[in-house]
Amino acid sequence: VARRLSGATINTLHTMQTLHPIGVFDSGVGGLSVLREIRRALPAEDLLYVADSGHAPYGERDDTFIAARVQAMAGFFRHAGVKAIVVACNTASAVAVHALRAQFNVPVVAIEPAIKPAAQRTRSGVIGVLATRSAVASSAVARLVQAHGHGVRVLLQACPGWAEQVERAELSGAQTDALVERCVRPLLAQGADTLVLGCTHYPFLRDAIARMAGPNVELIDPAPAVARELVRRVAPRAGPAGRRGTERFWTTGSPQQVGKAIGALWGQPTLVLELPSA
Ligand code: DGL
Repeated sequence: VARRLSGATINTLHTMQTLHPIGVFDSGVGGLSVLREIRRALPAEDLLYVADSGHAPYGERDDTFIAARVQAMAGFFRHAGVKAIVVACNTASAVAVHALRAQFNVPVVAIEPAIKPAAQRTRSGVIGVLATRSAVASSAVARLVQAHGHGVRVLLQACPGWAEQVERAELSGAQTDALVERCVRPLLAQGADTLVLGCTHYPFLRDAIARMAGPNVELIDPAPAVARELVRRVAPRAGPAGRRGTERFWTTGSPQQVGKAIGALWGQPTLVLELPSA
C-alpha cells in the first residue's frame, strides 16, 4: 500500500508539474520574437510573458541595474511556480544569467547573439553583430567572439534607439529607416555579408534592415534555436499532447501602452496585466 501511495503521489506531482507554466521575459516587447517561436514549438504549454517595459531599455543601463531587474523577474516566476525560465533578452542574459541559473533548479534557457552560426556562414569573412550598447560592451559577448570568431572579422555594432522604436511598435517609416541606416551602413561598407540580430527587439525590424542591407546579406535570428533548446529541456515535464496552451502577459510599464504594442506585434488584441510590485 505504501508503495502504491507513493507511486500515486509521484504521478500527481508529475502531472502537476507538466501543467506548470513556462516563464519568458525581456526588457520589453522584443522577447515576443522568441515567444512566437516557443508557441510554434510547444503548442501545449502555458506561457507567462513579462515585458519589463517600465525599465526598458536595458541596453542603456549598467550591469547592477540589469542584474537587479533580472532578480525582480525571477521573484515573480518563483511565485508563479514556473517549470522553466527563458531569458528572451540578450542584454539580460549577457549580464545576469549565471546568477539566475545558480538560484533555480528548473531549466533556464537564455538567448545569446548567434555569432557562431554567423561565423560559419559568412563568405566575405566579415560579420556584423547588431545589439544593445550594454550587450556590445559585455564580457559575455567578448567571450563569444573569442570562442567562435576565429578567422572572421566580427564587427560589434550598438544600435541606440532601435529597441525604443519596437517598444512603440513603429516598425517602419522615415524615423525607423534612418535609425536602421545609421547602424547598418557602416557594417556594409566594411564588407559584412552576415548580420546577427543580437537583440530580441530587432527581428521586428527585419523588413527595414533587409531593405537597407539588400538581398546578398543574410540576417540571423537565434530565436528558433532557443525554442529548440527549450523543447529539449522541458521534454521530461512537457504538457499533454493535444492540449492548447495559453499565453498570459504582464508588464511593469503601462498596461494600456504595452498592451497596444503587444497586440500589434503578437497579431491579436491582448490583455496585459500590471506586474504586482516589481
Ligand atoms: N531585447 C533586449 C535584448 O535582447 C534589449 C533591449 C533593451 O532593453 O535595450 O538585448
